Amino acid sequence: MVKIAVVGCTGKLGSSIVKSILNRNDVELGSAIARKGNQFAGKAVSELVGGKCELKIVDDIEKATDSDIFIDCTNADTFMAVSYEKYSTMKRPLVIATTAFTSEDIAKIKELSLQIPVFMTGNFSIALHDFIETLKFAVKRVSVDTDVQIVEYHHNQKKDAPSGTALMIREALVNANPRLQEENVNICSIRGGNIFGEHEVIFANCKDEVVTFRHQVSSRETFADGAIEVSCWLVKQENGMYNMYDFCANEEGSIC
Ligand SMILES: NC(=O)c1ccc[n+]([C@@H]2O[C@H](COP(=O)([O-])OP(=O)(O)OC[C@H]3O[C@@H](n4cnc5c(N)ncnc54)[C@H](OP(=O)(O)O)[C@@H]3O)[C@@H](O)[C@H]2O)c1
Repeated sequence: MVKIAVVGCTGKLGSSIVKSILNRNDVELGSAIARKGNQFAGKAVSELVGGKCELKIVDDIEKATDSDIFIDCTNADTFMAVSYEKYSTMKRPLVIATTAFTSEDIAKIKELSLQIPVFMTGNFSIALHDFIETLKFAVKRVSVDTDVQIVEYHHNQKKDAPSGTALMIREALVNANPRLQEENVNICSIRGGNIFGEHEVIFANCKDEVVTFRHQVSSRETFADGAIEVSCWLVKQENGMYNMYDFCANEEGSIC
């Protein structure tokens, strides 16, 4: 059984992943890691998410010796400044849920993937991946007078804007249709309430027509379950850099 260590277990996504792991019988919680000084460090996991898990929350990645794989859901600054070297030392596969890395950060993460399997995505939803595939098909066919714009909605605690997913969508659109210029595909970021994540792509042409594509997530479990499925797959992979395309291209991805 795959033993997963969740780094950033006290956060919104991290705690949701911990809960999902505890609700499944095909994976095990190897470790739950909080920031040093977080009020839950040293306490039982049950105090964080309810239930009966008595595993103690630790405050250092290097204490997660009994885990097969890490899922990081912290923030890009912490990841690069604190965690990067520790992942390199620990030599375990790494799933990066964290977003908002700079291009320099991503270059360093690619270096890390020479030593361990690394999976990175701005969105663990498999339906979102299918949504992007549909958009790639549709955007190839748009007329030259069509404006393509993106609107993304997230909760008011989200630190980065635009979202990692909106950036992924824009990259896919621009790559699929060379007539599109990245600077013309604007992203509008809305932050409010508890919205888990919504992305709209609008094709508006000069013949008074608007086509809107929309993907909406109404619970964090979508991301949590996706991250767990990906972890089970990543532990079997060679060193290298992987994303949702690699996962969905294999049999396990298409079953999920
Ligand atoms: N890929 C996806 O599908 C997906 C989906 C949702 C979110 N995300 C991304 O995942 C990240 C987390 O999102 P979130 O909404 O869960 O944010 P969040 O609620 O702010 O959680 C971040 C957590 O990381 C903890 N943390 C910070 N430094 C740490 C360290 N050195 N060691 C261990 N834990 C540390 C924080 O603890 P303290 O509170 O003690 O500082 C906090 O609990 C963001 O980058 C977000 O964009 C990705």
